[in-house]
Amino acid sequence: MSINVEKIRNDFPILSQKIYGKPLIYFDNGATTQKPLCVLETEKRLYSEINANIHRGVHFLSQKSTELYEESRNFIKNWLNAKFSHEIIFTKGTTEGINLVAASFGEKFINEGDEILITEMEHHSNIVPWQILCERKKAILKVLPFDENGELCLEKLSELLNSKTRLVSFTQISNSLGTINPVKKIIQEIRKFSTEIVVLVDGAQAVSHFKIDVQELDCDFYVFSGHKIYAPTGIGVLYGKEKWLDAMPPYQGGGDMIKTVSFSKTVYADLPFKFEAGTPNFIGAITLKTSLNYLNDLGIENIASYENDLLKYSLSKLNLFSELRLIGNAKNRSSIISFILNKIHPYDTGMILDKMGIAVRTGTHCTEPVMQHFKITGTIRASLSFYNTESEVDVLISGIQKVIKMFSVND
Ligand code: ALA
Repeated sequence: MSINVEKIRNDFPILSQKIYGKPLIYFDNGATTQKPLCVLETEKRLYSEINANIHRGVHFLSQKSTELYEESRNFIKNWLNAKFSHEIIFTKGTTEGINLVAASFGEKFINEGDEILITEMEHHSNIVPWQILCERKKAILKVLPFDENGELCLEKLSELLNSKTRLVSFTQISNSLGTINPVKKIIQEIRKFSTEIVVLVDGAQAVSHFKIDVQELDCDFYVFSGHKIYAPTGIGVLYGKEKWLDAMPPYQGGGDMIKTVSFSKTVYADLPFKFEAGTPNFIGAITLKTSLNYLNDLGIENIASYENDLLKYSLSKLNLFSELRLIGNAKNRSSIISFILNKIHPYDTGMILDKMGIAVRTGTHCTEPVMQHFKITGTIRASLSFYNTESEVDVLISGIQKVIKMFSVND
């Protein structure tokens, strides 16, 4: 089965609207994806028929809501091929997942002089939590660089690993370069060096394009956000190996993460509840299952293949502009395309494209070190999804032509 894009587009009501009188062309999927009708309907049905707090009542609706919430956890466990459903922790999103690990794992297992290794292509949410931890624990943050194509300098990995390395955290797909990192190979190399080093993979940009198998990857932690995978905002997942989650102290205190509370002693709940203090986003968690089912029905391999064709088509057109420089030229890349146009500020380009109904992201994409690497202030980023089409890419190409023409007149 392949992707029937015209049919699929009917599932996304937002795509049929006009912006400034022009059909919306949504190329900002790296920032957030649009939601299919089944997701919107699930959310509406949950609020209209089932809404009740979970794990807190013997009444019918609370039981029902709890059942659906735990069903979703189990579904995600299978979807990621985790070993146990209690290895799936619901979070607000990728950022919260990384902060949870940095705060909790960091509190217990990171000591003065320990080293944490990240890469130069990380999003700020995979940099700053580690900087905060390093400051708190007097630990050292090391950075694996990337080359001019935006590929990690993997030959430098072994130089950066040493007996003090405690944790390595890196992205599966760069949100500003589009590079797909060889996660399995990197983890194997780390394991070859030492089986004691803990590995976190940021899957924010990857989950919507690949089948993920956390046991096969052999990562210790894997994080992603629902809103980047066609689910609502405010829900995300942290997968963690049982042995780490069990050993880690709670991240936040409150209801649901306790067994008993008295003023002299509190006993914490078992996994996964130990890490889910307060009322979680249970509507989001349940709806996440709907979006993953939607992707399963389309077939993640079909999605990947369609997006790859669209990427190739886009690159073949973009490469015709002598004024255009791609930022990120990795051999193995996803459908995220970053570029700059000679002397034209990305914001100016973004604003002109916007007036044509084209939504692209402009700026640093929360990856300032990537911009510093290339000595640029920002890029224009088109991130494509399976609901985008070649004819939309053609409109982007004419938009770029228009921008170049406007600015060459003023040169
Ligand atoms: N990380 C998101 C992006 O790349 C916000 O746009």
